[in-house]
Amino acid sequence: MTFKTIIEPFRIKSVEPIHMSTAETRVQNIQNAHFNPFLLHSRQVIIDFLTDSGTSAMSSEQWAGILRGDESYAGAESWERLEAEIKDLTHCPFILPTHQGRAAERILYGHLGGPGKVFISNTHFDTTRANIEFSGAEALDIPCEESLDHNSDYPFKGNMDIRQLDRLITDRGAANIGAVILTVTNNTGGGQPVSMANAKAVAEVCHRHKVLFILDCCRIAENSYFIKHKEEGYQSTSYRDIAREMFDLADGCIMSAKKDALVNIGGFLALKDESLAAACTNLLIITEGYTTYGGLAGRDMEAIAIGLREVFEDDYLNYRIKSTAYLGEHIRQKGIPVLYPIGGHAVYVDAGKLYPHIPAEEYPGQALVCELYKIGGIRAVEIGSVMFGKYDDEGNLIPAPMELVRLAIPRRVYTQSHIDYVLEVFDEILKNKDKVRGLRITKEPKFLRHFTAHFEEIPQEK
Ligand code: F0G
Repeated sequence: MTFKTIIEPFRIKSVEPIHMSTAETRVQNIQNAHFNPFLLHSRQVIIDFLTDSGTSAMSSEQWAGILRGDESYAGAESWERLEAEIKDLTHCPFILPTHQGRAAERILYGHLGGPGKVFISNTHFDTTRANIEFSGAEALDIPCEESLDHNSDYPFKGNMDIRQLDRLITDRGAANIGAVILTVTNNTGGGQPVSMANAKAVAEVCHRHKVLFILDCCRIAENSYFIKHKEEGYQSTSYRDIAREMFDLADGCIMSAKKDALVNIGGFLALKDESLAAACTNLLIITEGYTTYGGLAGRDMEAIAIGLREVFEDDYLNYRIKSTAYLGEHIRQKGIPVLYPIGGHAVYVDAGKLYPHIPAEEYPGQALVCELYKIGGIRAVEIGSVMFGKYDDEGNLIPAPMELVRLAIPRRVYTQSHIDYVLEVFDEILKNKDKVRGLRITKEPKFLRHFTAHFEEIPQEK
C-alpha cells in the first residue's frame, strides 16, 4: 500500500518560535529595512527562504556528536572521523577542512588562478566567480542549451555544454585552463541537476586535454536523487553510490557543508593529486588553521561527519526533493511563472514575467521579494538585475538575463503546513499583481550591492 501524503520523516524534539506579525507591522518593517529583506531582523520574518545554506536543522545524532567533539588542536578524534567519512565518500586521499565553501575556493582557485588563467563551469556560483576573478583569472559559464528553455521537461538542465567545453579548451590552450568546475546541482542555473552521462563527458574531455576537473559538490545528494529517478540505469543504485561514482570521475571537489552535510557551518577541499594538495595545505595553515581542523571546531567536524551519512538516507531525500517540488508545482498550477522542472533546494519564480508592467530598471524581482514579505512575512532573495545588473559608461543599467526570485528551502526546518501557508500567500500575490510598483535604488555599494543597497518605491502615476 502506498499513500499520497509524504510525511516529514522526523519528529520535532526542540522548537524555535516564529514571531507572528500583522501586515501593517510588516509594511513598516520593510520600509525601515529600505525595501531590502537582507536588512530585516530575523525575528521579523515568518518563513525564511533567504537561503538553504547553514540553515538546516540538525538531528539528535548530530547534537550528540556536538557533545562528543574532540577539541584537541592536532590529531583530534573528530577530525579522524570526518576525514574517514569524506575519504569513504569521495575516494580522495587528501582532505583539507575549511570553515565554509568559499574558504576552500579561495585556497584552490587562488593557487590555480592568476592573470591569463581561465576557469570553465556549467555556472560559477557568485563566490566561486569572485574568488577566481579576484586572482586575476577569468570565469566562463557554459550551461547546456536545454537550460535556456524554462518550460520544457528536460530533466538535466544543470548540464555543461560539452562541445563548447572541448572548443574552449582547444582555443584557450589546455595549459591556460585553471580548472573545469562542475556545480552539482547548478545553483545559479535554477538548482537544476547534472546527469552522470554529462559528468562522464566532462571527465573525458578534461582527461583528454589533461585539465583539472573539480566538482562543486555542495548539493550532490540532491543531485543523486535526480539521477536515480530520471537517468536510465541508476534505479537500483543507492544515492551514496551514485555520488561515489561521480566523485570517481573528478580530480577533486569543494564542498560547502552548509548544504548537503546538514550543518550550520563547515566545508572542505578534497584532492587526488599529492603535490597540488601540498600546495593547498600551505595556504590552509596560513589562512584557515592547522591541517586537522582547518577553520572548524572539533564539534563542527563531528556534526559534518554524521550529516554526510544522514543526507543520503532514502526517506530524507524523498521528503526533501518531493517537498521542494510540492511548493514549486503548486505555485506553477496557480499560474505563477517558475523555472521548470523544479530543482532540488529552491523554487525560482520569474518576476519579470509575473510583473510585465515593471521594467528591469525598476527591479521586478525586488518588488516581488517586498510583496512576499509585506503580504506573508516570507523572506526570499532577488536573483536578477539587483544582484547581477551592471552599469554602462553612461550609467544606464545593463540588466541581468532574467529577473528571478529564489525561494530556498532550509533542510528539515519547515513542515507541510508552513508550505501550505506560503501557497496561500501566493494567491494574494496574484490578486495584487497589477498594482505592484517598481523600486529605485537610493544607496548602493560598489560590490555585491544586493546585500546592503537601499531602495524606495516609485510613486504611482495619477
Ligand atoms: N558553491 C555553491 C554552488 C554554493 O551554492 C555556495 C553557497 C558556495 C559554493 C559557497 O559556499 O557559502 O559555504 O562559502 N551558496 C549559498 C546560497 C550562500 O545561498 O546559495 P559557502
